[in-house]
Amino acid sequence: MPYVTEQNLTDIVMDRWKNIPDSRLRKIMISMVKHIHAFVREIEPTEAEWFTAIDWLTRTGKQCTDKRQEFILASDVLGISMLVDAINHRLSTKATPTTVTGPFHVHDSPELANGANMAEDAPGVPCFVTGVVRDLDGMLVKGAILDVWQTDGEGLYEAQRDVKEPWMRAVYRSGADGSYVIRTIAPIGYTIPMDGTVGELMSRTKISHMRPAHIHFLIDSPGYHRIITHLFQRGDQYIETDVVYGVKEPLIVDFVKKPAGKAPNGEVLDKPFYVVNYDFVLQKAAKAAIAAE
Ligand code: BEZ
Ligand code: FE
Repeated sequence: MPYVTEQNLTDIVMDRWKNIPDSRLRKIMISMVKHIHAFVREIEPTEAEWFTAIDWLTRTGKQCTDKRQEFILASDVLGISMLVDAINHRLSTKATPTTVTGPFHVHDSPELANGANMAEDAPGVPCFVTGVVRDLDGMLVKGAILDVWQTDGEGLYEAQRDVKEPWMRAVYRSGADGSYVIRTIAPIGYTIPMDGTVGELMSRTKISHMRPAHIHFLIDSPGYHRIITHLFQRGDQYIETDVVYGVKEPLIVDFVKKPAGKAPNGEVLDKPFYVVNYDFVLQKAAKAAIAAE
């Protein structure tokens, strides 16, 4: 083996990592060595800069808890989460596209009947989201799960509120005709958490740290590709600059303002409200995925 020089070091390291028995791990590690070495050769960091990077990663890890995942946030603002999402959900352009999950989903939300309110006592403008779940052939999908979560009208998720009961989240199911009706309040745009290492980095850039107003959905039905997506409010000032690159054109919807009166769930409201109409279009799952269900 030749002794190392600046020129041959990358080849020597790649050579040593090339005999890993697990072929996937081998591919990942060799590619990682190749790209990280290329990055270091391009940047030519000083030792102080390299220590700053290690320190940032160390502090990022220390900020991660059961409730907070600063590394996922880093992956989000670098567009990596959306790239992994795109690679793993290559759906028909006619199906509802997926987007980033984000850190605020809570499992086991309460199941509510169609039309029931998932935003009792929450501040904000009432909002009804209605439509059907169907497939690419136009067949209505009954009994599909619609797991919904969002901010309240002050831009806060359950994890950011001191609440004991579920806040701004619920599970609905499409009816026999594929239809669903959600009563909630309109979300507003919000900032990603800026009090950690990601915020520290973002505040040294001129990049917006805001997300446009959106409602999160996980839609699932046996035999179909499960999707995690958002509906975004058309016209939101942050729609073009979403800090996590989550906006896809088909997910931008009109929030139509209605005067006080009869709402889509049959209730009569004494104040104005929004109505959003959106049909979720599911794609059949690949056969291998169905077998694994
Ligand atoms: C969210 O939409 O909840 C979100 C996504 C990525 C980072 C922060 C928040
Ligand atoms: Fe969100």
